[in-house]
Amino acid sequence: MGPPLAGRRVLVTGAGGQLGGYLRPALEAAGATVVGLGRRPGPGIDLAADLTDRGAVEEVVATAAPELVIHAAAWTDVDGAERDEAGARAVNLGAARNVAEAARARGAHLVAVSTDFVFSGTGGAPFAEDAPTDPVSAYGRTKRAGEEAVLAVSPSFAVARTAWLYGGPGKHFPRTVLTALRSRGSMEVVADEAGSPTFAGDLAEALVALAATGAGGIFHLANAGRATRFELARAVAVLAGLDPETVRPTTSAAFLEKYPLPAKRPTDSELRNERAAALGVTLRPWQEALTAYVPGLAAEGKGTD
Ligand SMILES: NC(=O)c1ccc[n+]([C@@H]2O[C@H](COP(=O)([O-])OP(=O)(O)OC[C@H]3O[C@@H](n4cnc5c(N)ncnc54)[C@H](OP(=O)(O)O)[C@@H]3O)[C@@H](O)[C@H]2O)c1
Repeated sequence: MGPPLAGRRVLVTGAGGQLGGYLRPALEAAGATVVGLGRRPGPGIDLAADLTDRGAVEEVVATAAPELVIHAAAWTDVDGAERDEAGARAVNLGAARNVAEAARARGAHLVAVSTDFVFSGTGGAPFAEDAPTDPVSAYGRTKRAGEEAVLAVSPSFAVARTAWLYGGPGKHFPRTVLTALRSRGSMEVVADEAGSPTFAGDLAEALVALAATGAGGIFHLANAGRATRFELARAVAVLAGLDPETVRPTTSAAFLEKYPLPAKRPTDSELRNERAAALGVTLRPWQEALTAYVPGLAAEGKGTD
């Protein structure tokens, strides 16, 4: 048997983003030919288009001629979405629908990436794929609308929800922890917010494996297990050789009093992977992924934020 996507043309939206950076190598390792799509030209971008522009999407999809599309582009600024829900909706619903319609018109399969923020997380975790959604933020509402639009265009398309992504050169939680501990010597982290921390490289590989099955519907792809933000930050400190006691627990209420944020976050949004696991697609426990990742991050010297 050859590689799972041997000879397949794959269009990746959001190719310049955090996940996009890991998708290209994962797809190429699976034998695919990758066309990276970004909002503007740059590294890893073969075609540029604003995905909220339906005509532009039709054009780039016709040019790319994909058999598979992985839609990783999104409005990911959670607090910005609270201030401009229409803007977030134009991307998380409008662009997702444009991409889905263009994929269907070409007869291409689509895997669209979504989020744990479709759950309020105020009870019921860990959430299986069929758990009722009840987003409490504009980001969550607009992503949920995008999921529905994708599956309305074709129930054989896949929606893959993930959570708490880290990895790559940009801003992410483990990098923020290292930067804070190195610059300030200590930090307070909320101990009453929990979820499924996920290495973007593991997600990319799981998306490739899921796409190769051709299966449709909703899937949960996150590193296995549950962590609070506090537990995650302490684990980062330990793995970087720093004193974990310098990470101190606080509550969301106390944190928000000091640093108000417009968007509500799920309290406990741990995702349970049942449907992809039944197809043989699983992700390792978050502790294993973090253990493999943090030494390299710590060796970079300094974070970027
Ligand atoms: N990051 C997380 O913790 C997390 C958690 C759960 C789910 N997710 C989901 O995972 C997926 C990947 O997230 P990520 O972390 O890789 O996000 P990211 O780093 O913010 O990348 C998103 C990409 O989408 C592009 N984009 C946004 N609007 C666009 C438009 N109108 N036209 C064309 N491109 C557009 C962005 O381009 P510009 O840079 O030019 O704006 C960016 O490259 C998203 O679906 C996200 O909702 C992320």
